[in-house]
Amino acid sequence: THIDWDTEAASKNGYSHFMMKEIYDQPTAIRETLCRRLDEKRHIQLDDIKLQKEDLDELNKIYIVACGTAYHAGLVGKYAIEKLARIPVEVDIASEFRYSDPFVDDKTLLIVVSQSGETADTLAALKEAKRKGARVLAITNVVGSSVAREADDLFYTWAGPEIAVASTKAYTAQLVAFYMLALHFANTKGTITDQEYVAYVDAIEGLGNKVEEILSQKETIEAVAKILVEATSAFYLGRGLDYTTAMEAALKLKEISYLHTEAFAAGELKHGTIALIEEGTPVLAIVTQERLAEKMISNMKEVKARGAYVIAIAKEGTPHIGHVADKIIEVPAVCDILMPILSVIPTQLLAYYTSTLKGLDVDKPRNLAKSVTVE
Ligand code: G6P
Repeated sequence: THIDWDTEAASKNGYSHFMMKEIYDQPTAIRETLCRRLDEKRHIQLDDIKLQKEDLDELNKIYIVACGTAYHAGLVGKYAIEKLARIPVEVDIASEFRYSDPFVDDKTLLIVVSQSGETADTLAALKEAKRKGARVLAITNVVGSSVAREADDLFYTWAGPEIAVASTKAYTAQLVAFYMLALHFANTKGTITDQEYVAYVDAIEGLGNKVEEILSQKETIEAVAKILVEATSAFYLGRGLDYTTAMEAALKLKEISYLHTEAFAAGELKHGTIALIEEGTPVLAIVTQERLAEKMISNMKEVKARGAYVIAIAKEGTPHIGHVADKIIEVPAVCDILMPILSVIPTQLLAYYTSTLKGLDVDKPRNLAKSVTVE
């Protein structure tokens, strides 16, 4: 007998596209990245990271350098490392870092983030920093990749192969990597208590289930995508960590739906951005940071007063949001610093549905490559 074996369909695991499969792989990718490194005392063990307490104490700066989605992960990484380990962090786009004569020396740790480990600009930035004496730590998804081979310290994300051009599970696994690194540095330096450490590890471990809860709301999210399909432009707004999610969300939406999207720091609205709002313009507001929620709500009122159609992606229980938003997508609550892992999930689904509803090739968007090996 002849079996017609379609390997591509098989590796999609029953999903219609790789992107959808990879979105659904996220609970596992998050758990794998964390749980493979917890010892019996639930302490994070990073065998490929040789940095000792003396090395960390010597550092006067960390630079995080990457491209695309990996750069957005770096922006979250900065928050986590600064808050937990109290080391100053700068984040730069690899193609900018290389040519900016950065202040890098033997007291700098360069963290490069690259799913593929082969992005030409990221690799060149790594080599430039090494030439200037920096120590290099790589966060990558591909074992034995160029970036992995060049680095002094290594953190492998356990997301598994990512095929769709638009990155999803590699991004959330990179965020887990940053939280774990920040906790490891903080614990080594003594900048957090044992109770805090344990509480964060538990919270990260619980993220997989919360991602599953969000995925179960996919019909609600698909209904919102129907609004985006009709639009010519859409804007994402956020403050603090929600602004980093807004940037990643806008990139995801533009790269696969070809809709004109931008992300704005909500406080900057009044300095120009608000001129773009017309009757019916979709504005997606990310509202997960408790101390910034009230300010976000007043920004939502400002755009609504100019005719915007306001869609909130909000932490459950955010007060007063129902009075301003036309539509609300709720995400389960966790401590604010970990919220980017949850708030990005609906934005991935929104991008996916907007693209497929438009009949576009969601896994292979025009003009883009999965791995960019030219400079
Ligand atoms: C390409 C991909 C993006 C990715 C970026 C960096 O542009 O389309 O999804 O974020 O490269 O890739 P890397 O493999 O270095 O993370």
